[in-house]
Amino acid sequence: MITLNSIKKKIGARTLFEDVTVTFDTGNRYALTGPNGSGKSTLLKIVMGVEEPTSGSVTLPRKVGFLKQNIEAYREFKVIDVVIMGNKRLWDTFVERDNLYEEEMTDAVGIRLGELEEIISDEDGYSAESDAESLLIGMGIPAEMHHQKMHTIPTDRQFRVMLCQALFGNPEALLLDEPTNFLDLESIGWLENFLHNYKGTLVVVSHDKHFLNAIATHIADIDYDTLIVYPGNYDMMLVTKSSVRERAETENKSKEKKVSQLKEFVSRFGAGTRASQVQSRLKEIERLQPQELKKSNIQRPYIRFYPPEKASGQIVFKVENISKGYDGKPVINNFSFEVLKGDKIGIIGNNGRGKTTLLKMLAGVLHQDAGKIETGHQVQIGYFAQNHAELVDKKGQETAFEWLKQQKDGVYDQDIRGILGKMLFGGDDAFKSVSTLSGGETARLIVGKLMLCNYNVLLLDEPNGHLDLEAVSALGWAINDYKGTVLVASHDRDLLAHAANKILAFEEDGIHFFDGKLDEYFASKKP
Ligand SMILES: Nc1ncnc2c1ncn2[C@@H]1O[C@H](COP(=O)(O)OP(=O)(O)OP(=O)(O)O)[C@@H](O)[C@H]1O
Ligand SMILES: [Mg+2]
Repeated sequence: MITLNSIKKKIGARTLFEDVTVTFDTGNRYALTGPNGSGKSTLLKIVMGVEEPTSGSVTLPRKVGFLKQNIEAYREFKVIDVVIMGNKRLWDTFVERDNLYEEEMTDAVGIRLGELEEIISDEDGYSAESDAESLLIGMGIPAEMHHQKMHTIPTDRQFRVMLCQALFGNPEALLLDEPTNFLDLESIGWLENFLHNYKGTLVVVSHDKHFLNAIATHIADIDYDTLIVYPGNYDMMLVTKSSVRERAETENKSKEKKVSQLKEFVSRFGAGTRASQVQSRLKEIERLQPQELKKSNIQRPYIRFYPPEKASGQIVFKVENISKGYDGKPVINNFSFEVLKGDKIGIIGNNGRGKTTLLKMLAGVLHQDAGKIETGHQVQIGYFAQNHAELVDKKGQETAFEWLKQQKDGVYDQDIRGILGKMLFGGDDAFKSVSTLSGGETARLIVGKLMLCNYNVLLLDEPNGHLDLEAVSALGWAINDYKGTVLVASHDRDLLAHAANKILAFEEDGIHFFDGKLDEYFASKKP
């Protein structure tokens, strides 16, 4: 059980939420929802005690698992150790024990070793390796990777290791911030199943509607400057939320009408003889004060990609017999295909099959081992990297405005402001430092660059990863409407169904090209 007591968080002049008093009960699965930048990650950090609330307090169970996002910090550690670190007390004990074994054996050392053994047994330390291994296997990390260092395995696998770390040691509560972002459909299915069997308190942030509907027993929604818990899954929350709101609005309207009638009476007779009646009506007016309805934080960005005046040639990419591998393991093998002007190609397939590798080679940021990629006449490429840090230096101190302005020579300030406004960085938000932007806000800023720079080819690598539902649907429309050429890798079926008219499927037996929409592709695969 996790309890939040009158939590309030202000950042600068802006209140993210206040009066948050809720209990997350054991056995329930809470999805924490709200648009990009509403404060979900911030709230989780407050619960974990890594960020201070402006006021209020939190009570927690003894063991809480938290999905960490700083994969880099674990580069040099072995995969299996990274998982065991999920139980900090146990890990610290192991480290201390190993150090003591290096020392000369004295009485004091012997006594301390005895104490450490007790802690280890208390924390189920003797089965730690096998527990960690079965978690890793369940997550699809093959045994030969367990003793490799983190940085030697693919990024999406590293992410799964972090998930195992959070799950290690049977925490009584589990906090997950966007766990599905780097997972393919197969792993998401595994995670759903795992979470269904999880007996503790679960709080999970996600923008993935299917995932939320599959796992949530309750939705904790950040809106109207606070947090409201609705029973049921995401779809049910939407219905309840809008009907509650409608009721409040209708009530307010009828109160307002009544008040204006009463006021008319008062103004007509206020100076006259019917003083007592006027008095009672004044009281009534006071009682009827309509409640102040806070504005909803849901906003839709306006996304449109304008190609430059000069269109690209008919053939955008001609890919001939390319191969690419890492550490001797082939990822893409002797692959050929052509991208034509106006193609909207959806790239699908499980993690690790080379979608990002292909896009990087097309974007020119990675070179193939063999074969040839010809880029067509007057092709101007806009690239949205899966890993935002490759495009936006999150350690930098520049503002969103400054970052965007650097992306194009000779651009006017008001044009930058215009695009930032469309990307929901209105007013002072344009001058937020990029280091403080949330995941979704960073993604919106990169989309802003693609709008600003007038490309005729867009290479988008999981652009929906951090975006909220409004933004993903706006992006789908924009791709659909765009006059240029698009290759977009994504696990989001709704987005691809809307945006792609051809499919490049990275399947187990190779890369298949399909000239049709996503549902037609799936239909064609059914026996
Ligand atoms: N140090 C800071 N200075 C200024 N603004 C900040 C700071 N830290 C966070 N913010 C802002 O607080 C808001 C909430 O951020 P948070 O990361 O919690 O959002 P989120 O709901 O998790 O969004 P997303 O869905 O994109 O992950 C954002 O608008 C962010 O830019
Ligand atoms: Mg977040």
